[in-house]
Amino acid sequence: MAAGKGTRMKSRLPKVLQRLAHKPLVLHLLATAQQLQARSAVVITGHGADAVEAALAGQGGALQLEFVRQEPQLGTGHAVQQAVPVLADDGVVVVLSGDVPLTQASTLQALIEVCAGKHLALLTIDLADPTGYGRVVRAGDAVQAIVEHKDASAEQRAITEIYSGIMAVPAVLLKAWLARLDNRNAQGEYYLTDIVKFAVQDGVTVLAQKTTDAVQVAGINSPLQLAELERSYQHRQALALMEAGVRLADPARLDIRGHLVCGTDVDIDVNCVFEGDVSLGDGVTIGAHCVIANCSIAAGAVIHPFTHIDGGAQGVTVGEGALVGPFARLRPGAQLGANVHIGNFVEVKNSTLAEGAKANHLAYLGDATVGARVNYGAGSITANYDGANKHRTVIEADVHVGSNCVLVAPVTLGEGATVGGGSTITKDVPAGALGVARGKQVTLANWVRPVKTQK
Ligand code: UD1
Ligand code: MG
Repeated sequence: MAAGKGTRMKSRLPKVLQRLAHKPLVLHLLATAQQLQARSAVVITGHGADAVEAALAGQGGALQLEFVRQEPQLGTGHAVQQAVPVLADDGVVVVLSGDVPLTQASTLQALIEVCAGKHLALLTIDLADPTGYGRVVRAGDAVQAIVEHKDASAEQRAITEIYSGIMAVPAVLLKAWLARLDNRNAQGEYYLTDIVKFAVQDGVTVLAQKTTDAVQVAGINSPLQLAELERSYQHRQALALMEAGVRLADPARLDIRGHLVCGTDVDIDVNCVFEGDVSLGDGVTIGAHCVIANCSIAAGAVIHPFTHIDGGAQGVTVGEGALVGPFARLRPGAQLGANVHIGNFVEVKNSTLAEGAKANHLAYLGDATVGARVNYGAGSITANYDGANKHRTVIEADVHVGSNCVLVAPVTLGEGATVGGGSTITKDVPAGALGVARGKQVTLANWVRPVKTQK
């Protein structure tokens, strides 16, 4: 169910497109459905339907993805009624709420097993404050009904077991019960939860599967709840990493917005953000305040504080034992070999640096091929863009580029060549040669400096 507006988010974005760990809520549910190996996923859209459908389009993978529209939105029962034509009779339907993103596939699998193809299985939880939720009314142990908060008597409101909004139900029974819904209740809505009383009338067993894990059934209605669930989610990821041996300076100061894979003896200092796909080899150290996206860092590399790595679609690779940062920036297509050093305020884009190459201070390498052991001086840049096209700079092995040079691409510095500091190089420098391109120094002896005039 993803048709609701989410008024309390006070956002132009439909609620189910708000992002948790940089991923729209509804895509978290889709990933869970994929893990369940569901036959198909039906998404009920309404508010912001075009945007919600666009966000999901093509994301189904092996899962058959279908959309149905609910317009206007007359309640959760009415929402599921819209899906009836596309639900196969021989299946079990798992109903999920688009704003409850963190239910685990294993929990749903257990619910499906409770349903066993013939019962109505409800996921419930005991809450200290059940205000606002549908209450699970039992007679003895047997579930009799779900009564919505607004319809509940004082006695029913004292019940602490609430319905999570998640159920597993045989499709054929669901369809029959949906046809019997009405909207004679406090909110004038078609409540999906009314099917519980129809099940009881028909002699179908209703089973409530209680969870104790509030995070898995937590719904998002406000920016505060979104932020709180983000923290819960991040905390779980931090715990899982530490369980696997990763050392985190502070599990509360880590954000993984994607997928992070770590080898053994990885150390991560505070306030690091990982996005997309990142892998860290054995013994990698990440300093404080790094943002690292779509990057593979090999064993023993050290990323010093305040480094920004964004591999984008091309990716970034950092070789074994490389040293990067502090304050370095690696952009898409940066490929650093083993033991490369990239120091402070150095930017690398779409460039390959072979083993042991060094650019330690205030430099730019864009569209460059850099050989082994090259030393690239402070303040030097590749002028890779002529205003219309981009060109490559080739710096062969053992070249020494002095400080403050401009290498105007396309240009090649042959093996072992040297470029004098302050040069603007527009022509190739052959192997072993020295290239210097700057004004000759003029020296005037006994120079008298101007003196300040008296007023
Ligand atoms: C629902 C349950 C309540 C349960 C609670 C758990 C009903 C009648 N009540 O109440 O028992 O305790 O969830 O969070 O089901 N939606 C639509 N179309 C609609 C209405 C809602 O698609 O016409 C979607 C919403 O976008 C949301 C989900 O259904 O994803 C739940 O709707 P919501 O209004 O939050 O239901 P609650 O009142 O919270
Ligand atoms: Mg709700």
